[in-house]
Amino acid sequence: MPKEIVLTGVTTTGTPHLGNYVGAIRPAIEASRDQNVQSFYFLADYHSLIKCHDPERVNQSSMEVAATWIAMGLDTDNAIFYRQSDIHEIPELTWILTCMTAKGLMNRAHAYKAAVAENEAAGEVARDRDPDQGITMGLFSYPILMAADILMFRASKVPVGRDQIQHLEMARDIAMRFNHHFGELLVLPEAVVDDDDTAVLVGLDGRKMSKSYNNTIPLFLPENQLRKLIMKIKTDASPPEAPKDPDTSNLFSIYRVFADEAAVSAMRKRYAGGIGWGEMKQILFETLNAVLAEPRRRYAALVADPPSIEAILKNGAQRARAYSVPFLAEIRKAVGIRSLSR
Ligand code: TRP
Repeated sequence: MPKEIVLTGVTTTGTPHLGNYVGAIRPAIEASRDQNVQSFYFLADYHSLIKCHDPERVNQSSMEVAATWIAMGLDTDNAIFYRQSDIHEIPELTWILTCMTAKGLMNRAHAYKAAVAENEAAGEVARDRDPDQGITMGLFSYPILMAADILMFRASKVPVGRDQIQHLEMARDIAMRFNHHFGELLVLPEAVVDDDDTAVLVGLDGRKMSKSYNNTIPLFLPENQLRKLIMKIKTDASPPEAPKDPDTSNLFSIYRVFADEAAVSAMRKRYAGGIGWGEMKQILFETLNAVLAEPRRRYAALVADPPSIEAILKNGAQRARAYSVPFLAEIRKAVGIRSLSR
């Protein structure tokens, strides 16, 4: 029996932060050790071009994301870890799928609709604004590239955040249409969404930790800067001795994601008995730092030696292409792109 294929991608924009770690990186790393599935993890660098046109940042971000996953303990012997742009079959498949995708399906994509809505809102001021102003074909057809990422490797399970569920539905739609025309070649993928509320981390201001809120704690800050940021986490004005509710505390909600179970229940008792925010911040810093100190060293060694990261990604690409090259050949044949001399 071939192993089940689990695949997920991470768009390479920005520096990975604690929220990314808890929501995506940590679960993926745990899953990467599972010998019963074949997992594929990749840097979606072609996706990053949709939002970022600064070549240095595109490149830097790929390096940071790759180094982060490796430093945090991704099992790159078991899982296949690669860069999307190293798999030349993906853009080829994207075109074939583009020709099987109804434009109307893409018109309904949330990301595209949100961009149009923003333009329309602005258009109330300037009546002559085009609703598609500033929207590239990259943004518009993004779900097709994502479908190719998934369908290329016949993935059946795709762990993603809630915001990506629609893209998975689109990938299934596209695959069904392809299969209907050309035969059952593509596997219909399913989104796997983590419903556990600990998968969402709060940021410095108490809202969800997110780059767009500018409230993140980057994963590999030097120790003193990590401490400084933690001291900035918002708390209320209650005095140290006042009993506190852990379930409404930003500090506690971060703490419980990193501390072990016994420490977490001991901390609940300390809240009930009154713990000062200053002391709690210090404990949170120490807890986080204990988790991050070793990976921080590995991360520094990796980014000081980019060829070592490159070698890991190239190895992953080679393993991934052992799947994508023969499969794309089958797909091309199925659609009639084939040699004339057979
Ligand atoms: N679009 C995804 C995101 O923004 C990243 C991504 C690209 C992806 N291709 C993928 C995720 C394929 C899962 C499978 O989070």
